[in-house]
Amino acid sequence: MAEAKKLFIKTYGCQMNVYDSERMVEAMGAEGYVTTDSVEEADMVLLNTCHIREKASEKLYSDLGRLRPFKEAKPDLKIGVAGCVAQAEGDEIMRRMPLVDLVVGPQSYHRLPEMNRKMQAGGKVVDTEFPPEDKFAHLPERKALRGPVAFLTVQEGCDKFCAFCVVPYTRGAEVSRAAARLLAEARGLVEKGVREITLLGQNVNAYHGTGEDGDWGLARLVRELARIDGLERIRYTTSHPNDMEDDLIAAHGDEGKLMPYLHLPVQSGSDRILRAMNRKHGRDQYFRLVERIRAARPDILLSSDFIVGFPGETDADFADTLDLIRAVGFGQSYSFKYSARPGTPAAEKPAVAAGIADERLQELQALLLAQQRAAQTAMVGREVGVLYEKAGRMAGQMVGKSDHLHAVHVVDPDARAGDLVRVRITESGPNSLGGVRL
Ligand code: 5AD
Ligand code: SF4
Repeated sequence: MAEAKKLFIKTYGCQMNVYDSERMVEAMGAEGYVTTDSVEEADMVLLNTCHIREKASEKLYSDLGRLRPFKEAKPDLKIGVAGCVAQAEGDEIMRRMPLVDLVVGPQSYHRLPEMNRKMQAGGKVVDTEFPPEDKFAHLPERKALRGPVAFLTVQEGCDKFCAFCVVPYTRGAEVSRAAARLLAEARGLVEKGVREITLLGQNVNAYHGTGEDGDWGLARLVRELARIDGLERIRYTTSHPNDMEDDLIAAHGDEGKLMPYLHLPVQSGSDRILRAMNRKHGRDQYFRLVERIRAARPDILLSSDFIVGFPGETDADFADTLDLIRAVGFGQSYSFKYSARPGTPAAEKPAVAAGIADERLQELQALLLAQQRAAQTAMVGREVGVLYEKAGRMAGQMVGKSDHLHAVHVVDPDARAGDLVRVRITESGPNSLGGVRL
């Protein structure tokens, strides 16, 4: 048998890309490729890119520049660009970067084997279409996974058109996968040792897929997944506040496998900026929503994304954002300086001075960090579930995630990855908790 060809894959950006990369590896596996961690060894390099902010996009071009000597040394090396930059700038990539052989947008990964054959025959391939079929249904079955936690993409795309965001253009309109396929994929994952599944979607709570008795929302999907024996934990991300329906909130109260953590980006605390961002909700609506969620699940840990320096943001608007953060109290958050993205409505507007945006970001991050630490400290003394994911650095130590998604270190010499145990939290470090097994 010929020696297996080697694939080096690099993933940028969000968890959806992590999932997509796994599926691409599986698709190329069917073509005889195995993965490698070394570019020198690789017969094919795939860069799975992110377009969300300028910095993320630019990484592609610098990484491609760094690949040039490898291609010169080994002209047979095939270089492919996948993901959202491929979707947004496919033709430009081909023009600017002659070393690229393949450009494939996020909706066409199931066509990779066919594209690979064309590429191996010496051709260049660009596919940035939005084909109507479910790409995942045309990809090979999931392989053995690396651990007890897995992602499962249930929905892709976005119809919200926030004024700053490229996702509706790079990932297309909202599309949900059929429930039966998702249940089958989840069962397959559980058979391979997975005990926690995070459902992914750009707007995951806008999930509306075909179920056996009609349209299923995310709450119904979660409840059906919860019936799978051996699947112990379910999470989902990312949610838009306007799609938090009553049945999903209720599930947080009574579905024991649905974990008490919710990423619910608000982006800004200023009504004026929320309107300019086209978020279609105000700050009071967000407050009321948080109240309802906390009524259903009082100990839920909330996280959010924030953008500072959106065009037109004044000191008063920024103060409203700080105020919202103080009022809600987030356990974890991600914050970004606004980055103008070509083709989005906000990109036309005059920018906030970079120095001001930098200062605001620092102030915001200091507050968010203090809240994150406070949420961690509040766990000390509490009993939580921990799903071990791997051995820790110290002898006999395991590392896993708590129900609230905190990383937890536990000395537990006889344990194995995949064990779900009860732990008393005893200490809080900078980025993780420590505890003892009960
Ligand atoms: N600039 C800065 N941050 C952005 N995000 C999306 N688009 C932009 C942009 N143009 C952030 C939002 C979103 C997260 C995934 O990335 O906060 O929730
Ligand atoms: Fe982007 Fe807004 Fe859609 Fe989220 S909801 S993906 S921020 S357009």
